[in-house]
Amino acid sequence: MSYKLAFIGFGVVGQGLTTLLKEKREFLKKNFGLEYVVTAISDPVKGSIYQEEGLDLERILALVEKDGSISNYDKGAKGWDSVKTITDSNANLIVEVSPTDIENGEPGITHIRTALSRKKHVITTNKGPLALFYRELAELARKNNVALRFEGTVLSGTPAINLSLDALAGADVQEVKGIMNGTTNYMLAKMAEGQSYDAVLKEAQRLGYAETKPDADVKGWDAQAKIVILANVVMGADMKPPDVPTQGITEITLEDIEQAKKEGKRYKLIGRAWKESGKVKAKVSPELVGTDDFLYHVTGVTNALTFSTDVLGKVTIVGPGAGKKETGFSLLVDFLNVHNVFKQ
Ligand code: HSE
Repeated sequence: MSYKLAFIGFGVVGQGLTTLLKEKREFLKKNFGLEYVVTAISDPVKGSIYQEEGLDLERILALVEKDGSISNYDKGAKGWDSVKTITDSNANLIVEVSPTDIENGEPGITHIRTALSRKKHVITTNKGPLALFYRELAELARKNNVALRFEGTVLSGTPAINLSLDALAGADVQEVKGIMNGTTNYMLAKMAEGQSYDAVLKEAQRLGYAETKPDADVKGWDAQAKIVILANVVMGADMKPPDVPTQGITEITLEDIEQAKKEGKRYKLIGRAWKESGKVKAKVSPELVGTDDFLYHVTGVTNALTFSTDVLGKVTIVGPGAGKKETGFSLLVDFLNVHNVFKQ
């Protein structure tokens, strides 16, 4: 089966996947029989190109690197907007990586609804649509007999969603708890080394960890969306982000961090969802943890999640929570999963 991919959005994550698709082409063909072309990219800032027979990925990446834009690509149709790219291109798999909006899910929700309704598979790292409309979208995918995969919405390429859906299927997850935002965990670690809030936030943006609007990271909304996705997907909840009391790291000062250090403790932004009296509850807040807590040792952009289950007790995963290749990889895994399920 040969896939035709369209990228909706072409920021850090889309470029991360493109690099992997270019580097791993032979490996993916040899090991999984996976073959593909990218026929379209549509991004309001970087430009839009549609080329039926497939774009030259090396050239595309070189152009973005050099010009910050793909507008000088010399072939194909230019200027298609995102919805036209989904509906009118020959793509059968849509990579939805537009900037996330956790309040209304746009424009991602329109992209995903449009693609699924037209029987195109969707792989995405876009948290807003999944946190707000998971059930509707899962049902739309089922009705149209196409896939919706979203591994990278939680913990980038570290397998949080697939672990929950596949390896822990059949277990009753009573609690999910952990560090699920790379930017703030990185910032807290650097601030503990004495660097200023503004400087470390800038560095997190430069490294491609932070959201387009970094308020989402530092005010806890990104972790809030992730705990909602986990609660709904893994624990059968039906909650929305406003249901989750959320506090970020904006009020933690260098002095607070210094004081914690003196006491042998560290601040961590912790998200948790748990079952209580037959209901799922969730919250996000900074917590002080001591050296006896495993999360104390999870620093930098590394994240960790512990699933408390009926049969296995606690199962913990630790890995990157953000990053260009790391999040790009989540999409590659989603792509392979689509292929494994739908190949003839
Ligand atoms: N801004 C997010 C983070 C990116 O820092 O964790 C990955 O979801």
